[in-house]
Amino acid sequence: RIVYVDGQYVEEQDAKVSVFDRGFLFADAVYEVTAVINGKLAEYDGHITRLQLSCRELALQLPVSIEELKKIHLALIDKNQLHEGAIYLQLSRGNAGDRDFHFPGAEVKSTLVLFTQARAVIDNPKAETGLHVVTCPDIRWHRRDIKTVSLLAACLAKEVAHSKGADDAFLVENGFITEGSSCNCYIVLADNTVVTRQLSNDILHGITRQSLLELAAKDNITLEERPFTPEEAYHASEIFLSSATTFVLPVVSLDGKTIGTGKPGPIAKRLREIYIARVK
Ligand code: PDD
Repeated sequence: RIVYVDGQYVEEQDAKVSVFDRGFLFADAVYEVTAVINGKLAEYDGHITRLQLSCRELALQLPVSIEELKKIHLALIDKNQLHEGAIYLQLSRGNAGDRDFHFPGAEVKSTLVLFTQARAVIDNPKAETGLHVVTCPDIRWHRRDIKTVSLLAACLAKEVAHSKGADDAFLVENGFITEGSSCNCYIVLADNTVVTRQLSNDILHGITRQSLLELAAKDNITLEERPFTPEEAYHASEIFLSSATTFVLPVVSLDGKTIGTGKPGPIAKRLREIYIARVK
């Protein structure tokens, strides 16, 4: 694989970042994951707009222009002949030459890393079988709207899920589901209303979520943006989740309780279909 590190395209085994990089020492870094379908970037503008928001919130400077950033994405797709998968982008505050909590001066340039990941996004077998999910406490910090690489709480939640034989975890705070370990969450009520938590600092503002809400509204699906509890989810007719790398995936059990018929539901299927049509 050819990866991008600070202005260079190199073989992955030759890519190097300093031990003093603040991304490594302090998780002082932000990231984006953009799907690639048929060699084309999906929802690129949304991801870059969110990257700029993350940067603004943390006073991080991109070392390249927005035009250059797009060229890097396209060059990596080309150099790796990527047909389907994702591009991971990480921007850290760079290497200040030592470990020091204070932000370095403007002379220290941020570190930009991008790499591709080939994988089947559209033909995901989980879209047919559905996912088994468990809930666990949301122990993350309070700025989940900033997409930082501080993902240890998400890794721990996924480990809890795997140890219980489940596919993923939904996170619970003050009795309500915030979001998934790396996705946004939705339930479908008996009258087919789709409920998903409203935007705030409590969740990442998913780019897939934003598109799905637009598509659902056009498809005359009734939407409600509000928090919901695990208890309400157990009794929902469907549960599903969304992210750049999973699109829409149905959830067929939550905490061991069967959801709806125990099979992927019609609304999740429909939204997956129209989302795929949008990005194809
Ligand atoms: N995760 N919530 C969290 C906590 C996430 O980490 C993600 C994405 C989402 C969905 O956002 P989007 O639709 O913009 O991908 C919601 C990415 C895919 C990841 O960490 O790999």
